[in-house]
Amino acid sequence: MTPEFILVTPQARPQVALIQLNRPKELNALNLQLMQEVAAALKQLDQDPEVRVIVLAGNERAFAAGADIKQMAGRTAIDMLLIDQFSIWDQIRRTTKPLLAAVSGFALGGGCELAMTCDMIVASETAKFGQPEIRIGTMPGAGGTQRLTRAIGKARAMEMVLTGEPMGADEAARHGLVNRVVPVGQYLEEAFRLAASMAKMSPVAARLAKESVNRAFETHLDEGLHFERKNFYMTFASEDQKEGMAAFVEKRPAEFKGR
Ligand code: HXC
Repeated sequence: MTPEFILVTPQARPQVALIQLNRPKELNALNLQLMQEVAAALKQLDQDPEVRVIVLAGNERAFAAGADIKQMAGRTAIDMLLIDQFSIWDQIRRTTKPLLAAVSGFALGGGCELAMTCDMIVASETAKFGQPEIRIGTMPGAGGTQRLTRAIGKARAMEMVLTGEPMGADEAARHGLVNRVVPVGQYLEEAFRLAASMAKMSPVAARLAKESVNRAFETHLDEGLHFERKNFYMTFASEDQKEGMAAFVEKRPAEFKGR
C-alpha cells in the first residue's frame, strides 16, 4: 500500500535510502498512521540488500513538531495503553542498519524523540530540539527523559523537560546531541554525504558495531566489553573481513558484499 504521510526513496543515493515525513501543513505532526508507515518502511528497507544506510528527514521548516496533539487530546490513559503506540517505536529502534536523522526546523516532543531514536543526527542551523510536552500538561513518553538526559546531562535535560524551552542546533552540537550543524540549504546533502561514507563499509561489521555501541547505553562496562568482543570475533566469520584485510594488504580499495 502506498503510504500517505511519508515519501520513501529506496535509492536516494547509491545504497542510501530516504524516508521523508510528509505532512507539511501540520509540521509533520506524528499521527499513528504516519508512525506505522515509518516503521513499515524501515522494516522493508532494513531487509533490502540494496540498501545499506537509511536517512530519515522532514522538511526545512520541520523535522516533526511532535505527536499529533489533535489526535491525542481526548484520549484516556486506557485508550493510550490499548493503542500501544510504543510498540511501533520499539520496532523503529530495532532497525539494524545505520539510521541517520536529517533535522531542520522543529524537532519537538515526539519529533525530538524520533530524531534521538536514530543513530546520528545531522542538523541545519535552524534546527530546534525540544520537549515541550510540559506546556500541554504531559511529559515525554517516547524516550525523551532517558535519551536527552544521556545525551546532554541531567541539569540541561531537566531544564528542557520542565520548562519546555527548546535548544538550538549549535548548543545541541556542543552537547553531542547532534553530529554536525550545517547551513539550512545543505543539511540533507550533508546527511547523504555522511550516509554514503558509511554505505562503503561492510554492512555486516556496521550492524555488529551498531549493536555494540547501543549496548553501551544498556549495560555496565564489563558486560559491554564482553558483548563487543563477541561481535568483534563474529566479524571474522564474514567474507567482508577477509576482503577488507586482503584489500589493505594488496593496497586496493575493498569491495564489501555484506556477507
Ligand atoms: C498537531 C500540530 C502540531 C502537533 C503543529 N501543528 N504542531 N498539530 N500536533 N504537535 C499544526 C498546528 O495546529 C497548525 O495547524 C500547523 O501545524 C502549523 O502550526 P502553527 O502552530 O500555526 O505554527 P507556528 O506558529 O509556526 O508554531 C510552530 C510550533 C507550534 C511552535 C511548532 O506549532 C507548536 O508549539 N506545536 C506543538 C509542539 C508540541 O507541543 N509538541 C509536543 C506534542 S506532545 P492548524 O490547522 O491548526 O493551523 C508529544 C508527546 C510525544 O510529542 C509522546 C510520544 C509519542
